[in-house]
Amino acid sequence: MSSNVVVRPSGRSFSADAGETLLDAGLRQGVTLPYGCRDGACGSCKARVLCGEVTLGAYQPRALTDAEAKTGHVLMCRAHAQGDVEIECRGVVAEGVVPPRKLPTRVASITRPSADVVVLRLQLPANERPQYNAGQFLDFILRDGTRRSYSIANAPHLAEQIELHIRHVPGGKFTDTLFGAAEPALKERDILRIELPLGTFFLRQSTKPALLLATGTGFGPLKAIIEHAIHTKDPRTLRLYWGARTLKDLYAHDTALELERQAKAAGLDFTYVPVLSRPAPEDNWTGRTGHVQDVALADEPELMMWHAYACGSPAMVDEARRVLVEQGELNEDNYFADAFTTAADSAGA
Ligand SMILES: Cc1cc2nc3c(=O)[nH]c(=O)nc-3n(C[C@H](O)[C@H](O)[C@H](O)COP(=O)(O)OP(=O)(O)OC[C@H]3O[C@@H](n4cnc5c(N)ncnc54)[C@H](O)[C@@H]3O)c2cc1C
Ligand code: FES
Repeated sequence: MSSNVVVRPSGRSFSADAGETLLDAGLRQGVTLPYGCRDGACGSCKARVLCGEVTLGAYQPRALTDAEAKTGHVLMCRAHAQGDVEIECRGVVAEGVVPPRKLPTRVASITRPSADVVVLRLQLPANERPQYNAGQFLDFILRDGTRRSYSIANAPHLAEQIELHIRHVPGGKFTDTLFGAAEPALKERDILRIELPLGTFFLRQSTKPALLLATGTGFGPLKAIIEHAIHTKDPRTLRLYWGARTLKDLYAHDTALELERQAKAAGLDFTYVPVLSRPAPEDNWTGRTGHVQDVALADEPELMMWHAYACGSPAMVDEARRVLVEQGELNEDNYFADAFTTAADSAGA
């Protein structure tokens, strides 16, 4: 038996089969609900039940607090409708989103700009040109069917090969093979199965100025977004804050500076602010220090008219949402994020 699901305020509706989550049902029928991890760990798919009954599978408390659950909030990637329901979800994406496809790819190159980051380039089959919005991610579908998500780090018009920026997570099932810490090591010419495009992290159509916040490899999707903005001569103000511990952890600092140069040459209002949380003595750092969200807020204390896009560590994504909304008065509906959760986050470790 299927249930009818109505989404407010958009008024979009879809049916959910028994055993199907609200998120899967909506996406299957072309209703682009906001999401990230699809694993109850990031909170991107939060919605509120207005009427009807929903049961909720296991999730992490950082993704949905007890207080939120008490006020009828649910995670759509974990929610099953028990009969017809009406939910409030303000983040339904109106812009065109291409449905995902599964494809084989070949590893074209593996380069290592810093000790714990790899830039992986993937070659698609001949005549295949990937279609996605700059900022979206893909999934690797591993041999045992488990998936690992990685944001695409180049804009669609530059995607002769797909570029990914991947940080080593020691003990990690996929990244250990990429960094040679587990057998069989991933190498050039290996074939990997992917699904793309996924997620709802991309610039919304708007003229509002946008803060772009990244930690670590969260720079990847923002790089793609900026490349796309330069390509389309996007007139909005864009401010990129990229944070890392030390200067060498800003593994693509020169690339970010080059994007700033290209944007200025194209007449765009784009600035790049690198931020170090623990600069090393040899960095001789005279730039900004601290956490990206605090530095951005110090520069732009009034965010009522802004959008914000944050990508990278789940801790930064959570904290940035809190301080930008509470202290900068950012409208929470205008905060968009991809938290790079891992199996440890999904397990609540
Ligand atoms: C939407 C999205 C986009 C992402 N984009 C990127 C990106 O562009 N770049 C990037 O670097 N990362 C990205 N990530 C993170 C990425 O998907 C992987 O989670 C990450 O690379 C780790 O994968 P892994 O297989 O190596 O480690 P995992 O197997 O996930 O393990 C991670 C850690 O958890 C530990 N662990 C495993 N299972 C458990 C358990 N049950 N209990 C406790 N601990 C456990 C492991 O020992 C390891 O230390 C993204 C994540 C999401 C959700
Ligand atoms: S997409 Fe539902 S919690 Fe991440």
